[in-house]
Amino acid sequence: MQTTLILLKPDTVQRSLIWKVIARLERKGLKINGLKMMQLDDAIINEHYDFLMDKPFFPMLKEYMTSCPVVALAVSGENAISVVRTVAGATNPQEAQPGTIRGDFGMTIDANIMHASDSEDTAKVELQRFFKGQDVFEYSKISDDTL
Ligand code: TYD
Repeated sequence: MQTTLILLKPDTVQRSLIWKVIARLERKGLKINGLKMMQLDDAIINEHYDFLMDKPFFPMLKEYMTSCPVVALAVSGENAISVVRTVAGATNPQEAQPGTIRGDFGMTIDANIMHASDSEDTAKVELQRFFKGQDVFEYSKISDDTL
């Protein structure tokens, strides 16, 4: 069982797509263990996207990611990290397959609906970064045994 970090980005909030993206995740069979709205600042974006700092699009990415609150989710399931990346689709929504979240809801790479951790190590660091070990709940669901 893995837990991964998802951010529903500002375009998702602005376009009233929060519930639609969460519905896709739940419909897939993933469990929501944590959910909170947060206003990100430059410091957390510098940390979260430090590997992109020298890219020409970084200033725009930072401005976008801090433009309004995001929704952070801790989501679990078997192989949840790769399952969530598959359900999300390619980074560029124009290349993402129909049926994926980015493929169905996005049109531009700089507003691509959601972030999802890309490895176990990253998930651990990112869950700590956004949830600080708080408000992530382990619980059973009636459907756990039947999925
Ligand atoms: P990246 O970590 O490569 O992709 P992913 O989010 O799928 O793990 O990039 C991080 C974010 O940076 C990406 O979600 C959107 C933004 N981005 C751009 O705005 N322009 C670009 O050309 C790229 C590659 C990424």
